Amino acid sequence: MFPTTRLRRLRRTGTLRDLVQETRVTAHDLILPLFVEEEIDAPVPIASMPGVSRIPERHLAREIEAIARDGVRAVMLFGISRHKDATGSDTLRRDGLLARMTRIAKDAAPDLVVMTDNCFDEYTDHGHCGVVGPDGAVLNDQTLDNLAVQVVVAADAGADVIAPSGMMDGQIGTIRRALDAAGHEGVPVLAYSTKFASAFYGPFRDASGCDLQGDRKTYQMNPANAREAMRESLEDEAEGADMLMVKPGLAYLDVLARIRERTLLPLAVYQVSGEYAMIKFAAQAGALDEARVVRETLGAFKRAGADLILSYFTRDVVREGF
Ligand code: PBG
Repeated sequence: MFPTTRLRRLRRTGTLRDLVQETRVTAHDLILPLFVEEEIDAPVPIASMPGVSRIPERHLAREIEAIARDGVRAVMLFGISRHKDATGSDTLRRDGLLARMTRIAKDAAPDLVVMTDNCFDEYTDHGHCGVVGPDGAVLNDQTLDNLAVQVVVAADAGADVIAPSGMMDGQIGTIRRALDAAGHEGVPVLAYSTKFASAFYGPFRDASGCDLQGDRKTYQMNPANAREAMRESLEDEAEGADMLMVKPGLAYLDVLARIRERTLLPLAVYQVSGEYAMIKFAAQAGALDEARVVRETLGAFKRAGADLILSYFTRDVVREGF
């Protein structure tokens, strides 16, 4: 007790503070999401995400080389398709955008960890994450059949990690069996296990050119629920997930911390487009110090229990230092 105890003793100098710092973010923890668009010649800036552009597929090899040279160690690829249809069938093709961008990225930087966001919404004309039935509902099991094909296409193209984000029931087990049957026993699955139906994805819809009809409330989770997040996480673990995720990040730190206590798997968090936009626009208005706020938020994810962090700030932070 005070005055014997004085917590300020360990805060007296920067080096002392560093010695007793409990968590630390490094380049090893960070994953950079990228948007890759086919059939364009120049990068398209995303108005709602200042500093982020859609990369033309034609420039992807050199962009990936530059990103790897900057020290980024992992990327998550999102395709922006010009070949949309009712089922997102472009993702099932060996010469589709998903397969091509994965091959290009792996060839350009073989040591870079290339993750694919395995979903359908950027490839369907209705913008939903799967097959839509006659009454407008997203059909779970028909979507699983397609997903089983899509993940093998991605793994054959060289994806290092398969990351399904569609929130279909049973998707992890389906994917694990499909990968194993195709000889990809060594390819891990990062489950978007707790994905909330969040308004923080707003700018992503702009970024990904997704014209969503309706909303995703019948498959993504209700933001009010934390117990259900435990069920989703434990279910995905039981089905064979190698890593789990919570998405979005900042508004769900409690969920992250609670899952951390219930699983031994590596845990990822996704600082989503809306979180990025809030910081960027506030910094542009002079209200926040961007560099410091970014580091504070990434640190908060670590403290709450994340091992891996997906963030659009990854390249800046890796380049500038922590
Ligand atoms: C769906 C997907 C989404 C995001 C990642 N994967 C959008 C959604 O669920 O509506 C959002 C990412 C972000 O907002 O940064 N494939």
